[in-house]
Amino acid sequence: MAEHVEPGDAREIAAALAARLDEPVGVFAAPGRVNLIGEHTDYNAGLCLPIALPHATYAAVRRRDDGVLSVASAQQDDRFEGLLAEVTPGSVEGWASYVAGVAWALREAGHVLPGMDLVVDGRVPLGSGLSSSAALICSSALAMCAAGGIDPDRPSLVAATMRAESEVAGAPTGGLDQTAALLGEAGHALLIDFRDHTTRTVPWQPDDAGLALLVVDTRASHSHADGGYGSRREECEAAARELGVPSLREATASDLDRLDERLRRRARHVVTEVQRVADTVAALGAGDWTRVGELFTASHASMRDDFEISCSELDLVVDTALAHGALGARMTGGGFGGSAIALVRMERADEVADRVAAAFAAHGWGAPGVLPAPASAGARQVR
Ligand code: GLA
Repeated sequence: MAEHVEPGDAREIAAALAARLDEPVGVFAAPGRVNLIGEHTDYNAGLCLPIALPHATYAAVRRRDDGVLSVASAQQDDRFEGLLAEVTPGSVEGWASYVAGVAWALREAGHVLPGMDLVVDGRVPLGSGLSSSAALICSSALAMCAAGGIDPDRPSLVAATMRAESEVAGAPTGGLDQTAALLGEAGHALLIDFRDHTTRTVPWQPDDAGLALLVVDTRASHSHADGGYGSRREECEAAARELGVPSLREATASDLDRLDERLRRRARHVVTEVQRVADTVAALGAGDWTRVGELFTASHASMRDDFEISCSELDLVVDTALAHGALGARMTGGGFGGSAIALVRMERADEVADRVAAAFAAHGWGAPGVLPAPASAGARQVR
């Protein structure tokens, strides 16, 4: 049987966190995300279409007057404590570097922050490809801004949280996750154009059409994951250089023949994926869910064959879902493990989840997690 991973009750989680601090300034939540389509396009100035999950990371904060930043987590035994002024890239390691990184990035952006005690509770499964790290960073960012009495606009917060993740936590991601966490809206997907960092909400209510989005966390993570992301990024930059364009967003299908075989496949994924995002938005506008499903499946094939970031577990989720009536299915996120999504008829959702779990068991793999995924609210104060 698939294991259902529930988001938990926001009010209860917030109350428990607040109880760990005397006189907290507040409790803030930032969601994980599922990218519906548009993978590895963000750092190519392309298009992405994520939704925010109901699963979030929560951060409670209280001011202190000694300039110290202290960070504890409901999930980790160790806590970080250090002078805010001494947090710099390379000075903090492990999970706390994501939180300390936010303080550094906000200060770098010119904001003045007080010393703070933060306690976080992460309800986005770690390593699931659903952006638990962006949820941690973005909830911490809102908490720190509240403690500092500052209110930067969301695009500035996206920029600061991206710097925190790439420069302090050392993960050079492309902005999809932070943008989804900070700007996501309930009932909507977020169309992000990374050419100019503009966003537009797109209604996403598959249940109105009798459909459900199944999110399956394979719980597989492959050791080459970190290197794989960086090398794909380098290959995309190399392809753009060879084509003489600032980014692969400016490349067209007819340019691809000028590249060698490997770079051609990498670039073909990006060029066709950007088009699939635009096509998905058009299909959603037309209420054509069959087409949305086809685009999901085509996206998966492109990631499996051209970009080569899938793995056996992700392929098994996709193939099993499709064999049992899914309209479409694809891996989501960075790849090499993590989660896959399937667009299924509501009445068949449990059956598809059970079939996937049975297929995993037949391979001798551990049970996958299944997450409910209504498009949910972006980062916000919850208490
Ligand atoms: C990871 C990164 C994102 C994005 C996706 C792939 O989630 O953090 O910036 O590149 O992979 O779409």
